[in-house]
Amino acid sequence: MKAIIGGTGIDEDARFREGMKWVVNKYGQSMYAVIDDIVYLPRHMPGHSLPPHRINYRANVEALRELGVDAVISIYAVGSITRRMSPSRFGLVRDFIDFAFGRENTFFDGGEGAVQHTPFVQPFDRELKAAFAGTAVKAGYSLPMETIYVTTNGPRLETPAEIEAFRSMGADIVGMTLATEAELLREAGIRNAAVAYSINWAAGLDAEGISFLEDETVKRLSRTIIDLAVETLSGFSSLNFR
Ligand code: HPA
Repeated sequence: MKAIIGGTGIDEDARFREGMKWVVNKYGQSMYAVIDDIVYLPRHMPGHSLPPHRINYRANVEALRELGVDAVISIYAVGSITRRMSPSRFGLVRDFIDFAFGRENTFFDGGEGAVQHTPFVQPFDRELKAAFAGTAVKAGYSLPMETIYVTTNGPRLETPAEIEAFRSMGADIVGMTLATEAELLREAGIRNAAVAYSINWAAGLDAEGISFLEDETVKRLSRTIIDLAVETLSGFSSLNFR
């Protein structure tokens, strides 16, 4: 089974709102829908009711693990720090910097047999990234493949000085959810390719203050990215792996 995890904007799409069912596991509650063998999981819950620091990331990833999901395309709305991914573009994430704190971001939380230091030299799945890029290019899109995502804790947006600091560290895009989720997906042994799409210039980079893309543009971008993710996962047999 394959899954798509969607966040801001993406979760307005009917596939992330209709036919949802609750599940409960040892980490808490999660919600998803299954359409044509693809699991759609809205990370902020239907109606976007959970801010990034309140999401139960462990319950979400555990729900996927219990469904037997072995590959995920995770989608994130972000702010742009560099021109590598400017607003209204989408692309793949190569690596991340994690500034989130106070979150349950591990399944290896101590106790007998439960201390493990998971390698993150390759934070995302190469084949799955290549498959998504191939699908997008075939459909006529050009996309950045090497962006660096910095995860802030939120829910407030950043200060201009923070964004300047993140730029000097090498970050291209900023958001509040990717690192926590990617950490757990990797610990759960689920292959993951992260697709980001930018909806604004980050703090201090836009003369207008912070201005976000129009709803209609977000809707169109979301639909495009979900469609590309579905096409990628539908053609992505587990036999391609390893
Ligand atoms: N900062 C943090 N998270 C975000 C942003 C931003 O500017 N835009 C979308 N998600």
